Amino acid sequence: MRAAKMIRAAAITALGLSFLWGCGEKETQDPEKISVGVTSYNQSDTFLGELLGAFKEDLEELERGDLSITVTIRDAAGSQRTQDDQVRELIGAGCDVLCVNLVDRADPSEIIDLARDNEIPIIFFNREPVAEDLMQWDKLYYVGADARQSGIMQGELAAAAIQADSQIDRNKDGKIQYVVLEGEPGHQDAIIRTEDAVETLRDSGVKLEKLSYGIANWNRGQAQNRMEQMINQYQNQIELVLANNDDMALGALDAYEKSNITETSLPLVFGIDGTAAGLEAVEQSRLAGTVYNDKEGQAEAMAKLAVAVVTGEGLEELDIQEERYIRLPYAKVTRENVHEFSCNQ
Ligand code: GAL
Ligand code: CA
Repeated sequence: MRAAKMIRAAAITALGLSFLWGCGEKETQDPEKISVGVTSYNQSDTFLGELLGAFKEDLEELERGDLSITVTIRDAAGSQRTQDDQVRELIGAGCDVLCVNLVDRADPSEIIDLARDNEIPIIFFNREPVAEDLMQWDKLYYVGADARQSGIMQGELAAAAIQADSQIDRNKDGKIQYVVLEGEPGHQDAIIRTEDAVETLRDSGVKLEKLSYGIANWNRGQAQNRMEQMINQYQNQIELVLANNDDMALGALDAYEKSNITETSLPLVFGIDGTAAGLEAVEQSRLAGTVYNDKEGQAEAMAKLAVAVVTGEGLEELDIQEERYIRLPYAKVTRENVHEFSCNQ
């Protein structure tokens, strides 16, 4: 009896000791905690919503026994002032790395100053700061894609479709009457996509006649609106719609659905992004094609880079160009290969 008690007491002491010892050791074995602060230009943007969804999942996957990651996401709702305040707040709350989707890509100075003063690296994404700004400090990065490539690919898709089907030139005048739906003025993906798509079509030998254009800020509702105005003006003369992104291409389709234009007089409509709704519309042949903006690749690069800049490990595994840039390639999507992309979702 006595012996048993003694053994129990010894066991408890041992437990206590190992507990204490465990606690002491915890100091050094504590998982490294990384706090990632994100601010995006506008939460209602479809492509960015999907990109950030993938980003959160990637960060979770990067967690290990010795590494825990938390992420805080803020919506700047279209105001650079708000975004500057959010960065200040995120830094104040102790974040280790910032991911910034600038509202005004020409105005990152306040954010850069704040981050540099506090030694917090910044990964800009999707809205590209000008090179001079990115060169201000060696802890600034950009993750995105090459706008020119997306424009060229959209032009190639349109040229191939037009050359494969003589019915696209409905009025048989040897020219393709087209309109453009443009993203935000001043965004690297708006002007460049339009210019390169049109130039690629011309270079492929397609004769073009531009009827009109509408600025719709990446937004489906605004695009529907602009398209309704263009349909009112040009009725069934429009043979091709080039939209700078899928949401605006879908807005154009919405406008046609509400119009009195018959199915045989519908134009070819092309988007860019390959959002879930965009891919579905390609699958249903409502969109003639889109260009995949690799959100999974961009999200993964951002997540790995965020961890690497904080831990100092793994930077060399990333394909960083000019010490600052990671750009993921675009890909053409048509009815034929759309399934390869939809199964990613
Ligand atoms: C583009 C994308 C658009 C929109 C925009 C926001 O790359 O194609 O759909 O998300 O970024 O900056
Ligand atoms: Ca024509």
